[in-house]
Amino acid sequence: MNHLDRLRAALQGASVDGLIVSHPDNVGWLTGFTGTYGRVIVTPKDAVFITDSRYTLQAEEQVSGMPIRWFRSPTDSNEFVAEQVRSIGASRIGFESANTTYAEWERLAQKAAGIEIYPVADLFGPLRMVKDPDEIEKVRQACALADAGFQHVLRMVQPGVTERDIELDLEFYIRRQGAEAAFPFIVVSGERSARPHGHASDKALAPGDFLTLDFGARVDGYNSDITRTVVVGKATERHREVYAAVLEAQVASIEAMRPGVAAKDVDRQSRELLAKHDLAQYFGHGLGHGLGRVVHDTGRMSASSEDVLAPNQVWTVEPGVYIPGFGGVRIEDDVLILDGGVEVLTKSPKELLELP
Ligand code: GLY
Ligand code: MN
Ligand code: MN
Repeated sequence: MNHLDRLRAALQGASVDGLIVSHPDNVGWLTGFTGTYGRVIVTPKDAVFITDSRYTLQAEEQVSGMPIRWFRSPTDSNEFVAEQVRSIGASRIGFESANTTYAEWERLAQKAAGIEIYPVADLFGPLRMVKDPDEIEKVRQACALADAGFQHVLRMVQPGVTERDIELDLEFYIRRQGAEAAFPFIVVSGERSARPHGHASDKALAPGDFLTLDFGARVDGYNSDITRTVVVGKATERHREVYAAVLEAQVASIEAMRPGVAAKDVDRQSRELLAKHDLAQYFGHGLGHGLGRVVHDTGRMSASSEDVLAPNQVWTVEPGVYIPGFGGVRIEDDVLILDGGVEVLTKSPKELLELP
């Protein structure tokens, strides 16, 4: 089933004639459109794509299977949307309550005379979690490119090179291959590697630093998200202990993954292993998240998650240990759930590298 039909099936339970899809991630998932302003009105029989004059040519390229309607200044966007709802014959239309601010709702309501606009809770989350073969292929390509980027940047890892140098080299490589950076890369070294989401700075690498690189490529709208930690110069005993514990937790977590397993149990597995090494107190974030068109896609691997693993989901698995004043290690892979197990899509080496 294509994405539009999957949404229609999910809409059956909602007591509306149709839905105005407005969040860019959901519009993108539904149509492939990547512009900043797009709306899709979906009813059981019809679908209409709406954008503004900035995106008419792009929409013709990216959106198929439904008519494209667009407006230009001085037409008001909400008035235009309301008009399209009327012309499609819907009188009670849903809006995405999880992604609409009160002010946005008010502006639409003011223009929607004769139409009841009705809140519909998130339908896309569960749909987006399960990927079709085309989406999986794109994630696979994004993972392969991230792996190639890691190999490419390793020559830069030497004392005196700054975190920013590394970030720029990695991003240039990925963009030069025709892809985009999936998110602002995390490049942190030495004591800064204890910042799980620190940004690259002008700090120069020094012997004895952990260096953590968290980066990814976006290929045809789909992302990879990988982390590797290496040591600049020679690793100490403490470097080795911490690294080995995180690697053990990461590998064991991936081994625990298969359809039917609760995401929170995988998360617990990694925490229990780190506790064995007296390091669990340094692991504060969730073990992973869903991955797709959105880097932090639907799906959480955390203590409070209700998610259950199922075939064709893609998850990150990324335990980390962050010790203030010393440094941190995170190892992150992207994992596809298969009928009988998993496939790890990111294939960069995980043994501890001492560079140069
Ligand atoms: N790159 C952010 C994360 O790993 O979730
Ligand atoms: Mn990451
Ligand atoms: Mn991640």
